Amino acid sequence: MIIICVRSFSRSTNAIKTEIFMLIKRSSDILPSEITPEAVYLKRRELLKMAGIASAGLVASPSLLAAGPVPGDAGKRLEGIRKSPFSTDQEPNSWSDVTTYNNYYEFGTGKEDPSRNAKDFEPLPWTVKVSGECDKAGTYNYEDIINPHTLEERIYRLRCVEAWSMVVPWVGIPLADILKRFAPNSDAKYVRFQTLYDPKRMPGQRRRILDWPYEEGLTIAEAMHPLSLMAVGIYGYELPNQNGAPMRLVVPWKYGFKSIKAIAGIKFTKRKPRSSWEKAIPSEYGFYANVNPDVPHPRWSQARERPIGAGVFAGKKETLMFNGYGDQVASLYTGLDLRKNY
Ligand code: MTE
Repeated sequence: MIIICVRSFSRSTNAIKTEIFMLIKRSSDILPSEITPEAVYLKRRELLKMAGIASAGLVASPSLLAAGPVPGDAGKRLEGIRKSPFSTDQEPNSWSDVTTYNNYYEFGTGKEDPSRNAKDFEPLPWTVKVSGECDKAGTYNYEDIINPHTLEERIYRLRCVEAWSMVVPWVGIPLADILKRFAPNSDAKYVRFQTLYDPKRMPGQRRRILDWPYEEGLTIAEAMHPLSLMAVGIYGYELPNQNGAPMRLVVPWKYGFKSIKAIAGIKFTKRKPRSSWEKAIPSEYGFYANVNPDVPHPRWSQARERPIGAGVFAGKKETLMFNGYGDQVASLYTGLDLRKNY
């Protein structure tokens, strides 16, 4: 890693500006999570922020660089992660973007509430109740669900229904590989997921913002699609509490609210389950919730999105149908009117 410091004089402000650039040599066959923490987490945007500090008169000493957004709050490092051909080559958001700009109403409705309020949540030990149309119903320990599988890194775009977006380097297991072990039968047409219900540990559940526990659903074909992921980590580390520890869904072609966190229940059903948001405001949030720039939310357009962390001058970018995953998933919806089935 080479650090270059450039100083220039600005006529408009009559001030000396200091900019810091870091050249990172990155081999294509290593995981971002295997690169040294400084290189992973000190990204261009954060360097520019530091340049801002430097231009304000502070010195960007080596200790300031090392103390940057390194994940001091990260949990356990996950081992044996393989790369996935499904990853985007877009640059992931920083650790700090991904872990401090969250939606997790069980821990508050502000974007920074989950990172503050979920700090003391202890996700382990954890059990998941598996029920419904399957041969292997039962209550399983987290370790029994996860440990038989090899972890994969999947760098996915995340598009929230609120019209912001991020790129997140998840670590997880193809959802299909987990679900198949419960042997769903031929009546299993849908899968319903439930978040833990425990108002003592999830203080947001003491307020009736939603009909708790948070619930989400997928068709069995969506759940078995190779892109659907059960995530247990980000950036090569175990999932932070605010991101849905110990395990959460990631369905990258759908609005983020489908990607339910802290899963404690999985049920195979004959009938279409109703998700929490669908129950709360059915005219605004449908079952499918596929990212679709042509179908506006009743209160705002979905044509464009605001990439988090891109800076105030970066502006918005166009939203892609199925969040850019159309080649892989469009065939799931052949013959379905996507305006009616929003
Ligand atoms: N899961 C639960 N249990 N509770 C929530 O409030 N919010 C959803 C989804 N999963 C939510 C949830 C929404 S609206 C989004 S956009 C994503 O989580 C955000 O995931 P992130 O905070 O990891 O970016």
